[in-house]
Amino acid sequence: MAEPYYQDEQVTLLLGDAREVLCTLPDTSVDCIVTSPPYYGLRDYGTPGQYGLEPTPAAYVETMRSVFAEARRVLADDGTLWLNLGDSYYSAKGRPHGADAKQIARRGFLRPLDGPGLGFPRKSLLMVPARVAIALQDDGWTLRSEITWRRTTAVPEPTAKDRPWRTTERLFMFVKQPRYWFNRAPLAGAEDMWTIEPDRSAESNGHAAPFPIGLPSRCIQAGCRPGGTVLDPFSGSGTTGAAARHLDRRYIGIDLNATYHDLAKTRFAQTSLFFDAEPA
Ligand SMILES: C[S@@+](CC[C@H](N)C(=O)[O-])C[C@H]1O[C@@H](n2cnc3c(N)ncnc32)[C@H](O)[C@@H]1O
Repeated sequence: MAEPYYQDEQVTLLLGDAREVLCTLPDTSVDCIVTSPPYYGLRDYGTPGQYGLEPTPAAYVETMRSVFAEARRVLADDGTLWLNLGDSYYSAKGRPHGADAKQIARRGFLRPLDGPGLGFPRKSLLMVPARVAIALQDDGWTLRSEITWRRTTAVPEPTAKDRPWRTTERLFMFVKQPRYWFNRAPLAGAEDMWTIEPDRSAESNGHAAPFPIGLPSRCIQAGCRPGGTVLDPFSGSGTTGAAARHLDRRYIGIDLNATYHDLAKTRFAQTSLFFDAEPA
């Protein structure tokens, strides 16, 4: 395993590219993977080597495919993978004007979604989560559930005047083989539409795109054996790690950005302050 950026008796944080670091982890060494990779074309995390800014959706799917091929090797045969992905629209407006130019200036970069030439009709929803899920199926993963995560605090999209605003994201549950460790009890009543309240602390946690701790918490309770090890190859501010610690599982987090690992360390030191999960 690569030299840890941080380690205590429960948590290991590894710094570097997700795929490269995964290559250093032993076969079947984690029980559950819960993760939210950078979505396609939306955000510049400001780190060389970051995923998400590939020139085409197909190139992004290939990146995800190679990462999750390594993750599959590292996952125990009876383990589970919970993959959260949001979708993107193809704007293709070319050089931005007016309000769009202001938005891009605020964002600080021109997304592949803004320029011409992606090969989709303008204004298309790209169906990136579905494309990734199908690619993982093609690689041998078994897709067991497509969960809809309803975001009660979905940001309004005032510039989208001719379609419904988005209030949901996908969470895919994958396994390696037909029999795997699973505890249905925490999901009773939730089924495959999960409404997860936001963390009170999320705005102050300093990461651009954290998920609410209730999300990994539910996945871990359902998909990771007690005392097992949870992996998040896109650890960010360590939300999955905070949930794992609270639920008495070990945690391995990978991220390209040391600043995010520092946030996670601070967060682990005060996990109870950040723990805002509803009883699952
Ligand atoms: C959507 S965020 C994850 C947020 C996390 N779930 C949380 O709650 O804070 C995606 C993360 O992937 C990281 N990242 C981007 N490219 C990466 C790469 N090539 N290898 C490892 N991490 C990467 C970013 O730094 C970012 O923290």
